[in-house]
Amino acid sequence: MDRPDHWPQRTLVLRTPRLELRPDDDEGLLELVEEAYRGIHPPERMPFLESWTDADPRYLGRGMLQYHWSERAAFAPEKWTLHFLARLDGRVIGTQGMTGVDFGVTREVDTGSWLGQRFQGRGLGTEMRAAVLAYAFDVLGAEHARSDAFADNHASHRVSEKLGYHRDGLRRLAVRGKVVDNTRLRLPREDFRRPAWELQVEGHTPALAALLSAPVREQPSSPRR
Ligand SMILES: CC(C)(COP(=O)(O)OP(=O)(O)OC[C@H]1O[C@@H](n2cnc3c(N)ncnc32)[C@H](O)[C@@H]1OP(=O)(O)O)[C@@H](O)C(=O)NCCC(=O)NCCS
Repeated sequence: MDRPDHWPQRTLVLRTPRLELRPDDDEGLLELVEEAYRGIHPPERMPFLESWTDADPRYLGRGMLQYHWSERAAFAPEKWTLHFLARLDGRVIGTQGMTGVDFGVTREVDTGSWLGQRFQGRGLGTEMRAAVLAYAFDVLGAEHARSDAFADNHASHRVSEKLGYHRDGLRRLAVRGKVVDNTRLRLPREDFRRPAWELQVEGHTPALAALLSAPVREQPSSPRR
């Protein structure tokens, strides 16, 4: 029997003028953990929906590794997240995630990202978000992309604005025990403000395309009680 490619995302590489983005691997995750310890945001601010950077520093690294492993373990056509590690000059500087839920049917992706604080403000966040959007729209056939950010996250909002997203309502969330407005953002493919450069995609195989875009569930759902 011809065996399928069990993990086709391992060959994928997205290249922008300055960055190389590959789905997470263990060595890269250890570098990502080091970057998180150096600092992602001022301690008085919390840009993430889950306040994971507030973790006890003794367990932050292990928690980050376990989170990424749990995402890999749960990877399936009906719900997948590609956690791209962004490398600048061969060094991991942050991460750009992209999630699809029933993507073969919905044709919508959601993204989230962070960069080490020392790499912020140089256009790299825009470059890596533009990279996964170009991959989603032009290679995977996405029709919409989503993102979200807290009202005070000016850098994230500005990245979304530069790339053409529209505001799509607010939701109230509890962050560090306080209510905070979270802005939903939505980008239809035709409104994507493309960067001046062209994305280079390597290692996108038919097996990967099939895995990410499978139109039907791989296994029947379990019976509901
Ligand atoms: C959000 C993030 C990924 C953006 O990456 P980045 O490399 O810093 O962003 P860029 O340099 O590409 O673009 C940032 C834009 O925001 C603008 N900006 C930054 N801080 C700003 C502020 N306080 N007020 C207004 N604009 C601001 C910059 O001027 C730039 O816009 P410009 O190109 O028009 O000048 C990065 O800042 C980050 O990791 N932040 C901490 C984690 C985080 O917030 N993650 C997202 C959760 S929703």
